[in-house]
Amino acid sequence: MAIDDTRTGTNPRLPPFATVAAERLRARSELVGVSAAGIALLVVLTALDWAIGLLAFSAIVGYVLARREVPAGGARLGFDSKFDAADRGIERQIFVDAMPDPAWVLDRTSLVLCANVPARGLFPSLRTGIQVSSAVRSPDVIEAVDRAHATGVVQHASLHERVPIERRLAVVVAPLLMPGGGEQDPSLLLTLRDLTEQDRLAQMRADFVANASHELRTPLASLRGFVETLQGPARNDPAARERFLRIMSTQADRMTRLIDDLLSLSRVEMREHVPPTTIVDLVAIASQAIQGLEPQATEGRITLILEAKTRPMRVRGDRDELLQVLQNLCQNAIKYGRENGRVEVQISRREGAGLRPARIAVAVIDNGPGIGAEHIPRLTERFYRVNDLQSREKGGTGLGLAIVKHIVSRHGGELHVVSELGQGSTFTFVLDEAIETIKTS
Ligand SMILES: Nc1ncnc2c1ncn2[C@@H]1O[C@H](COP(=O)(O)OP(=O)(O)OP(=O)(O)O)[C@@H](O)[C@H]1O
Ligand SMILES: [Mg+2]
Repeated sequence: MAIDDTRTGTNPRLPPFATVAAERLRARSELVGVSAAGIALLVVLTALDWAIGLLAFSAIVGYVLARREVPAGGARLGFDSKFDAADRGIERQIFVDAMPDPAWVLDRTSLVLCANVPARGLFPSLRTGIQVSSAVRSPDVIEAVDRAHATGVVQHASLHERVPIERRLAVVVAPLLMPGGGEQDPSLLLTLRDLTEQDRLAQMRADFVANASHELRTPLASLRGFVETLQGPARNDPAARERFLRIMSTQADRMTRLIDDLLSLSRVEMREHVPPTTIVDLVAIASQAIQGLEPQATEGRITLILEAKTRPMRVRGDRDELLQVLQNLCQNAIKYGRENGRVEVQISRREGAGLRPARIAVAVIDNGPGIGAEHIPRLTERFYRVNDLQSREKGGTGLGLAIVKHIVSRHGGELHVVSELGQGSTFTFVLDEAIETIKTS
């Protein structure tokens, strides 16, 4: 099939100029012949200068060579449109190749005329010349193709792939109406849009709202319970009132913390694609975080230590955000570490190599009970807790590490967690060392 000869994958080669010229001259041989005869007659009968005649003939040949589209009703007039079909084949391939999503074109009998690389990646058996049904097994899509053929109207279908990964794709089958199109003309363009990411984000949003409401509902339900008790049975019991009010205050604090953390998370997420511009000293930030957590560490009889061989250790960063990272990590190490234990913040410099800059690693190490391997990949998920009850008892909202992850990612860094049950945990974040020394805060 002439159309197939032109299909050469992502980078179709154009036919040589000689072939194109010969095909175009052959397709319009009547025009060329009649012009040659007319000009010759004029030269003989009217003594027209032969040089002018030659010039006129060259102009007509030039016009024929330059014109590439099929004249309207070309097939009816008896022109051979074989080369124009080949031309259209190339154009079609270029057209589908330019589309970022999987796309392919079918002829009137549902034979595949051309497909782009994403389409062939999605359906490895999708080749030119085969029936679409042998590459795409989805009955929904085949039905949409049949309906589009029958009605000439755009059809929509949905494709659910399970292997190699689960994904959902929206399929649009659009009839192509080519002016002056013959039997070889394509009739349908199929395009696919991957909805998996969109579905995942929608699910995440729904889960997040459900989780956040649940987290707020728990302390709220407890507050309402105490209000009712204080209004009823405990109305005249000053000792109970005192105790209940203390619990109510703790629950209100918990709600405030949750809202603060939610706001903090949303702020960090909003700025995640804006890299920080100021240069800060991580050693100064770590000592400020440690100073602030000293009372909490003393309460849990935990020794809090900062170890930095050199100072300053400069990175490009947002001071408040990095302080929050250190606070969250140290707070976790204190909260979930061992009583009478030890929490160490180690800041070290890792040499760069070649074009890679030197990096600053901040490790928060505790000698607590550690975390099971199955929990480690999920620690930075919102509201994920290893031990739900223990975290809630300690006033945790389950958002601390999610905030850490977003801040570290905004700073172009990485977060690593190493932990073994009974061996303690090490949370390390690594950032590029800042070279400039201009704006320091
Ligand atoms: N150093 C650690 N040792 C043991 N478990 C830890 C440690 N750090 C975090 N975890 C576990 O990871 C979970 C998630 O921590 P994250 O900081 O995100 O939430 P949280 O501490 O429960 O609440 P928040 O930090 O928002 O107050 C915690 O509930 C805890 O189970
Ligand atoms: Mg925490």
